[in-house]
Formats: sequence, C-alpha cells, structure tokens
Amino acid sequence: MRIPDSVLRITRHKGRGIETEHPAVFPVALPEFLMRAYTDEGDVVFDPFGGSGTTILAGQRTGRRVRAIELAPAYVDLAIACWRTLHPELPVTLADDGRDYCVVAAARTSLQAAPEQGGKAMADAA
Ligand SMILES: C[S@@+](CC[C@H](N)C(=O)[O-])C[C@H]1O[C@@H](n2cnc3c(N)ncnc32)[C@H](O)[C@@H]1O
Repeated sequence: MRIPDSVLRITRHKGRGIETEHPAVFPVALPEFLMRAYTDEGDVVFDPFGGSGTTILAGQRTGRRVRAIELAPAYVDLAIACWRTLHPELPVTLADDGRDYCVVAAARTSLQAAPEQGGKAMADAA
C-alpha cells in the first residue's frame, strides 16, 4: 500500500452538465486515490454525505462497494443521473424490493404533485 503524503495534489475539473447541479462536487480522482490507498478491492466504503455521488463513481472505478447516504432527495436523483450517464448499461434498483429507481422516483413525484393523496404530509415531514 502506498501511504499518501499529507497534501494531495489532484487536478480539479470544471463541472460540466448535470455535475453543476450540486454546489460542492469534488473530483472523482480524490475518493479514487483514497480508496486505492486505504482499502482493498471488494471492501465496503461508507460515505455519509453522498452529494452528487462522486464516491459511488470512484467505487465503481476501483472495485469497491460503496454505501452512501444523502439527505436531499434531489441530490439522490442527481447522483443516480450521474451514475446512469456513465453506466447506462447497469440497472439501478432499490435494494429493499428490487424496484427500478425510475418507478420509485415517479411514485415520489406523483405523491408530491397530489398533496391530497399524501404529498403534503410528505413535504411537511421533509
Ligand atoms: C459537501 S456535500 C458532498 C459532495 C460530494 N462529495 C460530491 O462530490 O458531490 C455534502 C452533502 O451532504 C448532505 N448532507 C448534509 N447533512 C446530511 C445528513 N445529516 N445526512 C445525509 N446527508 C447529509 C448534503 O445535502 C450535501 O449534499
């Protein structure tokens, strides 16, 4: 294992397209470097502040399994959109019941659009 220096020099890339929809996206090369330095292939990496899903993308690049949490549903959608842009061939499903993410997102959207059917309660709880 290569122990990283205390200062990491990673070329910043200018956000393009959907990447610009999150204000604090960092380069995929950053979590990629740290994963290669501190974990082994197949390890589970946890990111409690998922944002646009940069860590998830790095996990795919390095063969690590990422478990990420993100508070804002819009950023979860963004992370999945970023993932799909790069990996259109891979399915995105809910681990709980296997539903495709499109179905889950559509159900959420229709709930928000129809407050009398529960959308308001959902918005209030958020
Ligand atoms: C600095 S951003 C992460 C950016 C990410 N590294 C990227 O490259 O896109 C921090 C994220 O943490 C989320 N967040 C803040 N508090 C949280 C919490 N308690 N649980 C989960 N996510 C949270 C925010 O919504 C925000 O998207």
